[in-house]
Amino acid sequence: MAKTLTVLGIETSCDETAAAVVRGCAPGPGEILSNVIADQIAEHAPFGGVVPEIAARAHVSVLDRVIERALSDAGVSLAQLDGIAATAGPGLIGGVAVGLTMAKALCLASGKPLVALNHLEAHALTARLTYGAAFPFLLLLVSGGHCQLLVCEGVGRFTRLGTTIDDAAGEAFDKTAKLLGLGFPGGPAIEKAAVSGNPRRFRFPRPLLDTEGFDFSFSGLKTAVRRVVDTTELTDQMVCDIAASFQAAAVEVLVERSKKAMQAVSGRAIPVRRLVVAGGVAANRLLSISLSQAAAGLGFELLVAPAALCTDNGAMVAWAGLERLGLGLVSGLDVSPRARWPLDASRAAIVGAKS
Ligand SMILES: Nc1ncnc2c1ncn2[C@@H]1O[C@H](COP(=O)(O)OP(=O)(O)OP(=O)(O)O)[C@@H](O)[C@H]1O
Ligand SMILES: [Mg+2]
Repeated sequence: MAKTLTVLGIETSCDETAAAVVRGCAPGPGEILSNVIADQIAEHAPFGGVVPEIAARAHVSVLDRVIERALSDAGVSLAQLDGIAATAGPGLIGGVAVGLTMAKALCLASGKPLVALNHLEAHALTARLTYGAAFPFLLLLVSGGHCQLLVCEGVGRFTRLGTTIDDAAGEAFDKTAKLLGLGFPGGPAIEKAAVSGNPRRFRFPRPLLDTEGFDFSFSGLKTAVRRVVDTTELTDQMVCDIAASFQAAAVEVLVERSKKAMQAVSGRAIPVRRLVVAGGVAANRLLSISLSQAAAGLGFELLVAPAALCTDNGAMVAWAGLERLGLGLVSGLDVSPRARWPLDASRAAIVGAKS
């Protein structure tokens, strides 16, 4: 039986400064002893998006207090931890460096092992923290920086089936919200406006839907929205109708590609029968409802983490660190932060490959 571990997780790859303490053992579920998040929405809102320099400075100014609070909420001292995990990439390099350097300093001071984590693996393994999801599973990773379909066969064992060729799913929500003057972050704002809108008012394109493979594209959809915005008077109702029509198109693309992937992986030598959705866009209700119907129709179990664990948080980092620590996969204190870091090892070997 695997040993129960207690791990501190530190997340600073984008605009959330987060730390959490998680206890448990693989395959989960784990116990979240604390989960502290300081967001930077107010700092970035005037710019309609995350400004890397502002994000890095904001992490520096609050990270020590966020970590102190995570330890005190959990009632755990540094000495009682089994290890410290931090996001080491991919992400905004200034922010990643802040969190990773803090984790190194804490490890040096406490003698605890360091786990330098791929942020995407932390999103991917959240379904094990919350539900104890067994491997293998099909993963739809839909976040602010990514839109990918992967097969996950174990910790660090990912095979990518498809990715976006332009914008990420969350980026498409954020850019559309900006066009509509809905503010930042865009995903929740679009979802809220869409509740009062008519999703059939505009028939926006469903890019790549009829093509082979599992890739995504969202820039044509965004351009179509821009065309309507530029040529129409934006009444409150019109904004809601555009938001609802955009959301319907984006969700349909994500669901149809996922269906195709489910069909493909169910025929593998070791059949995959579980679909995990991770990343901030997984918090979208229309997406999870539509995917649950699609999964049920194909005999798949659908696992979507609670909304608060879909967007960036320290608990997912602590959990993924805990899984790696349990396997003896620790890092040296000389590990470097990485702006790009693909999950799929075969992609990681390609010099300059995007994440
Ligand atoms: N309810 C929602 N509907 C649609 N999109 C959402 C919703 N909630 C959050 N998002 C989107 O999720 C994204 C944030 O997710 P997350 O924090 O996982 O991304 P990230 O960490 O910035 O990117 P990555 O994980 O790829 O580095 C934003 O683009 C946001 O608009
Ligand atoms: Mg993220």
